[in-house]
Amino acid sequence: MSAFITFEGPEGSGKTTVLQRVAERLSQDYDVLKTREPGGVPAAEQIREILLDGEAVDDRTEALLFAASRREHLVEKVLPALKEDKVVLCDRYIDSSLAYQGFARGIGVEEVRAINEFAINGLYPDLTIYLDITAETGRERIENNDRNMNRLDHESIAFHQRVIKGYHDLIDKEPERFKVIDANQELEAVVEDTYTAIKMFLGK
Ligand code: TYD
Repeated sequence: MSAFITFEGPEGSGKTTVLQRVAERLSQDYDVLKTREPGGVPAAEQIREILLDGEAVDDRTEALLFAASRREHLVEKVLPALKEDKVVLCDRYIDSSLAYQGFARGIGVEEVRAINEFAINGLYPDLTIYLDITAETGRERIENNDRNMNRLDHESIAFHQRVIKGYHDLIDKEPERFKVIDANQELEAVVEDTYTAIKMFLGK
């Protein structure tokens, strides 16, 4: 059985590490594809370079570029894997655009949803893991590890608080699609809770 599972959360939520660890465990029982936009898809990679390393662009341009990169990665990588009955675990997807561009940047969630629905053409995730953490704890975590900060990481704490509020509004709207995991816990506990949530979903 194929499944399309996305991971979402604000900065410092541990999303990428948790996804990696959970993917390793799930691989014992399932054919797993672990990916993230732009995921090695050449056109999508080029778009991402503009977004994360280039000069700041207009807010709506930013939203359109994320949506364009998303579509390319979806068509070239995610859809073929789902056809092969894989469990696809994707680091960020439509909800990132809704929370970051739609809500935190202030473009409007429904406007950003419209261009993203055009991009994904009906392919909402089957399940979305949300790693729930406060903006302050998230900021502390990224300051204590030496990963490169990207342009969005440099946004103010108020921006990241808006990102979190944006996510919570989305969860309230679609509680059945989201599984909220307490990411303020130790990493091991976050991995365990996430793994259990996905196993339960796949066992349904
Ligand atoms: P990334 O290196 O993947 O960081 P993280 O570890 O936080 O996922 O960079 C992604 C950045 O881009 C992150 O700050 C969130 C932002 N982003 C958006 O604003 N909109 C989007 O649609 C996506 C996918 C990411």
